[in-house]
Amino acid sequence: MTMTTPALVSQVLLEAPLDKDRDAAPMQRQLHHRIKEAILDGRLAPGSRLPGSRALAEALSISRNTVTAAYDLLAAEGYVQSDRQGTRVATLSRPAPPRMLQTKGTPPSIPAIALRLARIQPSVPRADAGATLRPGVPALSHFPLAAWRRAVDRAIRHAGPSALGYGDPLGEPALRAAIARHLGIARGVRCESAQVVITEGAQEALALCVRLLTNPGDTAWIEDPGYRGAKAAMHAGDLRLAPIRIDADGLIAQARRHGAWIIEDDYDSEFRHAGESIGAMQGLVTQAPVLYVGTFSKTMFPSLRLGFLVLPQALLAEMQTPLEEMLRGGHRYEQLALAEFIESGQFSRHLGRMRRLYRDRQQALREALTRYLRLPHVIQGGHCGLHLTVRLPARYPDHRIADAARRYGIAPAPLSGFVLRPMPEDNGLVLGYGNTSAELFEPLVRRLSQLIRAAEIF
Ligand SMILES: Cc1ncc(COP(=O)(O)O)c(C=O)c1O
Repeated sequence: MTMTTPALVSQVLLEAPLDKDRDAAPMQRQLHHRIKEAILDGRLAPGSRLPGSRALAEALSISRNTVTAAYDLLAAEGYVQSDRQGTRVATLSRPAPPRMLQTKGTPPSIPAIALRLARIQPSVPRADAGATLRPGVPALSHFPLAAWRRAVDRAIRHAGPSALGYGDPLGEPALRAAIARHLGIARGVRCESAQVVITEGAQEALALCVRLLTNPGDTAWIEDPGYRGAKAAMHAGDLRLAPIRIDADGLIAQARRHGAWIIEDDYDSEFRHAGESIGAMQGLVTQAPVLYVGTFSKTMFPSLRLGFLVLPQALLAEMQTPLEEMLRGGHRYEQLALAEFIESGQFSRHLGRMRRLYRDRQQALREALTRYLRLPHVIQGGHCGLHLTVRLPARYPDHRIADAARRYGIAPAPLSGFVLRPMPEDNGLVLGYGNTSAELFEPLVRRLSQLIRAAEIF
């Protein structure tokens, strides 16, 4: 074993003074980090003796307690060992290199995976979180982060350590009750809290619908263009997907005739910008065969990962046991904080502010498109939600435009990426205005206009 000489050890540990600025990390953490990095990158070899705590404290002009605390932490993590002779770098156990089972050149064979996964294909390119015009992202900098932090703090204080354990698999009762009340008033959804199941965003709710309602090989009729997350969940359940063009009229009657369930993904209609508020389909008809899916990804923020599924009354008894066995009840403090956020009116106030912001942004984007997109196009949507769709002639392929735009930090989604059975009119851009300030719309639309022209195929 080659040890690092005492002179080199000192050189590594004293390479620079510790940062004593008021905003810097505490001394103990800086010293701990410095020694750990040196051990991990091999500058301090196993067996090397570290300086005594008094000597190192003097050399770095810090207190001896700070050095002892850093050494103690390193010892607890297994990086050093202390005995009567002092502190030495430990021999770290590294994972053994994998044994090659195959001869060189042939890739190792792995056991089979689900064939149905091959049907899940990339549809919309991934974009940076902060990219402009990216659909589906709410106004992150307008979220009342300080109020939310206080709500989480209160939830931790009130619930205490008991909420560190598993919760009710169907979700915290307080949140389920708050959601049921809010949905009744805001969306016309008829439900009791027992029907509400808390999920990890709408995505888990959609996946649950597939698992609870279908058998492999069943057919799911899905809006086309439609949500790729829903398609992925359905492919993962080995369903056959049948596209239907969007026309909500008569859907309930048709579903009844065919003995089908309807999954209503009501993910962004809290943000209505024009016309009368339209209630959820779930509440339009009594005993509608509807599973209502909702999410806090747009009304709060996406990384909260909280959503919900409202089960029809008729399914409750049968679903209770499977759900209790399949789910575990996590994110308890966030669930409790969210319940308080809703009940105290902070959620509705935030929604009201965001509704006004998105209405203004939607109008500003529409105006910028009308003024600066000097190409044949049709603007669609905008009555509610966080995006507008611009349909373009097929000679401007949307994937080419979206690829070019991403190089400028602009991330519209290509409309064709949402389509199962393409039609000539399914070419265009989905432009998110949720997380982009209105003053950027003019330069962004001018840039897009150039990129669209450059993408033209003759
Ligand atoms: C149609 C649709 N449903 C649901 C969601 C939200 O999904 P989640 O709650 O899993 O974040 C989105 C997000 O963009 C969406 O576009």
